[in-house]
Amino acid sequence: MEVNSIPIYLFFVIFSCSTILEASINGDEPRFSQQQQPIIRSDFPSGFLFGAATSAYQIEGAYLEDGKSLTNWDCFCHSKPEECGENGDNGDVADDHYHLFMKDIELMHSLGIKAYRFSISWARILPRIEPFVTIHHEDFPQELEDKYGSWLDPQMQDDFVHFAETCFKNFGDRVKYWITINEPNLVSEFAYEKGVYPPGRCSQPFGNCLAGNSDVEPLFVMHNMLLAHGKAAKLYREQYQPKQGGSVGLVAHCFMYEPITDSELDRKAAERAMIFNIGWSFDPPIFGDYPQEMREYHGNELPRFTQEEKDMMKNSIDFIGINHYSAIYAKDCTNSSCSESANRVIKGFVEITGERDGVLIGDPTSMPRFFVVPRGMEEIVNYVKTRYNNTPMFVTENGYSSPNVQDVQVEEILNDVKRIEFHQAYLASLASAITNGADVRGYFVWSLMDNYEWAQGYNVRFGLHYVDRQTFDRIPKLSARWYQGFLKNNSLIDLPESVHQQADIYNL
Ligand code: BGC
Repeated sequence: MEVNSIPIYLFFVIFSCSTILEASINGDEPRFSQQQQPIIRSDFPSGFLFGAATSAYQIEGAYLEDGKSLTNWDCFCHSKPEECGENGDNGDVADDHYHLFMKDIELMHSLGIKAYRFSISWARILPRIEPFVTIHHEDFPQELEDKYGSWLDPQMQDDFVHFAETCFKNFGDRVKYWITINEPNLVSEFAYEKGVYPPGRCSQPFGNCLAGNSDVEPLFVMHNMLLAHGKAAKLYREQYQPKQGGSVGLVAHCFMYEPITDSELDRKAAERAMIFNIGWSFDPPIFGDYPQEMREYHGNELPRFTQEEKDMMKNSIDFIGINHYSAIYAKDCTNSSCSESANRVIKGFVEITGERDGVLIGDPTSMPRFFVVPRGMEEIVNYVKTRYNNTPMFVTENGYSSPNVQDVQVEEILNDVKRIEFHQAYLASLASAITNGADVRGYFVWSLMDNYEWAQGYNVRFGLHYVDRQTFDRIPKLSARWYQGFLKNNSLIDLPESVHQQADIYNL
């Protein structure tokens, strides 16, 4: 496929966004206020990047337009609507961002954000062609699945590099931050262990999929995704970075695991959970290999990197992307009884739960495993800082989901005080990590607007803007006003008292 088929749409989005995307590397030193006051913009360095985030499938729609081919998510949601949200939702139309992108860029300008994180839809750039790979957030051409089983096959690594190169070549003069792959750890778990994301592969006791092996396939998939990242990063470093001057990173889904009790076994279980998640994702691109602990548990089932691959993988990222939503308890399964699906090597013999002695770790949200635990932000950043010698970090996603209950009035959704409290508290926690030396350079709210939330469909709303599903109007929620004010360093005079009191609520 010729590059000239790249839709005008993307040129506009990238061109418009590059005017708001600013480097953040050498900001002033942070000035942190006492946490009795609500957190404000000037609590962060002046060059710190504040943004909002989305992804292609979750907002674009236009799933059959301008020569785009079908993606894995298009096919999954059409063939298994019951897996794609209660109402058989899908991203065919999503937020219609493909047509309304100019409006959405105006929203970004009016918020005052300095950066916009989004993904480029691989199937839109390289539609019906030999298998190609991309810089990717969940969706890719279904052809790659049908041809050879996508991420289960090493062929996907090279196809990924081809798409990544297409992006570097065509957009690299304007894009200075590249994320190769979003959350390979979550894709491995949800698509190949639990089987709830396409291609829906799993085995008992994880679910009733037609095919799959939940105990080993996630390991192969992760291995291919990591190598795909490593190869794309090498190419970028050698051929594009010298003239384009950008940087390349990898993003992982980062829970903070806390031991459910003080026992040695539970503390070890929590450490193991961190290693089987964070270490699994970032040890290879930073140290060149999987964590030793994973090798001890998995033995030969954990794939091996050749010496050449280890050299390629090592230091293959310029920054670490942290998607952080929640802390959660970890409980040991080696010595106490756990559910059948937790008591397995693929889980590191750890059960995770949001509840201890009948008390939740934090306020629930509408996502099953996400609780409001602001301290988790500081804890996860400190963990990553220590483990990876303070490699530059970006918080690439953080956000609060409220339910889209049928009979809730729009006014109630718009009056999202809880979302403001969430961001205030998580930002205060982040500020504390930065003040103690963590090299965090930016923060992206998930999400700019309500969108298609994968297996939850449209029933879960993460947005700063409400999207009317009939008219596709975007209406700023109170949180959008708050973020706008925060970025201008305004005080919160016109916001509800509860927001002023959030520091007390979270005891920060
Ligand atoms: C993903 C997003 C998703 C968000 C909320 C992250 O795992 O990158 O695509 O919408 O979490 O669940």
